[in-house]
Amino acid sequence: MSNKQTVYWTVDKNIDNLNKLNEIKEAALWIKEGEVVAFPTETVYGLGGNALIDEAIEKIFRAKGRPSDNPLIVHVASKDQVRMLVSEIPDRAEKLMDAFWPGPLTIVLPSNHSVSPRVTANLHTIAIRIPDHPVALALLEEANVPVAAPSANVSGKPSPTTAQHVKHDLNGRIKGIVDGGQTGVGVESTVVDCTEAVPVILRPGGITKNQLEHVVGPVKVDPALEQEGSTPRSPGVKYTHYAPNAEMYLVEQYTQRMQQVVDEFRNAGKRVGVLTTHEGASNYEADLVIPCGFRKDLETVATHLYGTLRQFDEHEIDLILAETFPKEGVGVAIMNRLEKAAGKKVI
Ligand code: TXA
Ligand code: MG
Repeated sequence: MSNKQTVYWTVDKNIDNLNKLNEIKEAALWIKEGEVVAFPTETVYGLGGNALIDEAIEKIFRAKGRPSDNPLIVHVASKDQVRMLVSEIPDRAEKLMDAFWPGPLTIVLPSNHSVSPRVTANLHTIAIRIPDHPVALALLEEANVPVAAPSANVSGKPSPTTAQHVKHDLNGRIKGIVDGGQTGVGVESTVVDCTEAVPVILRPGGITKNQLEHVVGPVKVDPALEQEGSTPRSPGVKYTHYAPNAEMYLVEQYTQRMQQVVDEFRNAGKRVGVLTTHEGASNYEADLVIPCGFRKDLETVATHLYGTLRQFDEHEIDLILAETFPKEGVGVAIMNRLEKAAGKKVI
């Protein structure tokens, strides 16, 4: 797979009848025939391959350097396609699909084993979603096969929210990249397991626990997301993720303590970067200060989070000190990603 020429297709996501574009038709055909192609979704860019073809799935794992016990999310264009992949759709899942699809919610259901066993890492369940992005939907409709797509980054790095991020990580390692501009939500979909009577959140994301509970009543959160030592039910959650090159620390009570912590590290000879928001940026003196969205609107922080983490990689710094965020609404997903990026190091 390496040393191959990656094809770039640029499409305007706002035009009508995207399916008719040659760029979409070409990219969709490559996917259908077993090549891997990156494309935008409303959350992050995905690296898509035909979920029915073992070799296509191999290519995804190889291009990303992804551990093979970490299953992939299958993307489809319609609920009818879901029926072809699962042995059962419980009522609670049906309700969630109707409320949140297309959208940033991935639903885990009992698999009928029609996709490649590599997709599900031999589990008896399958994770499925309909993305809310016109380019993704046009591609899925054209390809007309279930498309397995993890985030289109090298394993362990921040997920890509622009085609340039994908190019940075995977140029020459994949067949093509469909550039449909910057993604919107910025953090990945919420993964919810609907195989048990009470749905369980396995990964926090674009849809919040409250939003889910509003539709299906009580929802649990996989205890492994909060407790050290227990095994997460979503295999991918156990791996280091989203990590920039420089070592990262989260700073609690940053309003009182950030500058002091910055000064201590700088006095020890370290070059220090600060991850803050537009509200906080002028408060700090450090080697590098990068604002990520507006604190008063956490959705903007989510949108820019991965891009900001990648920006730090463009500078020579030894460590990144990040402000923390309230674990409410999309703040739960933001803090989940920041804690992973920091390897849970909190000051
Ligand atoms: O927003 C998203 O979900 C993006 C875009 C591209 O759709 N995709 C994405 O995929 O984040 P990935 O592969 O980076 O994350 C998939 C997550 C992993 O944590 C994986 O362990 C979990 O979904 N997963 C997949 N299949 C599962 C299953 N059968 N049971 C439990 N967890 C599963
Ligand atoms: Mg990922």
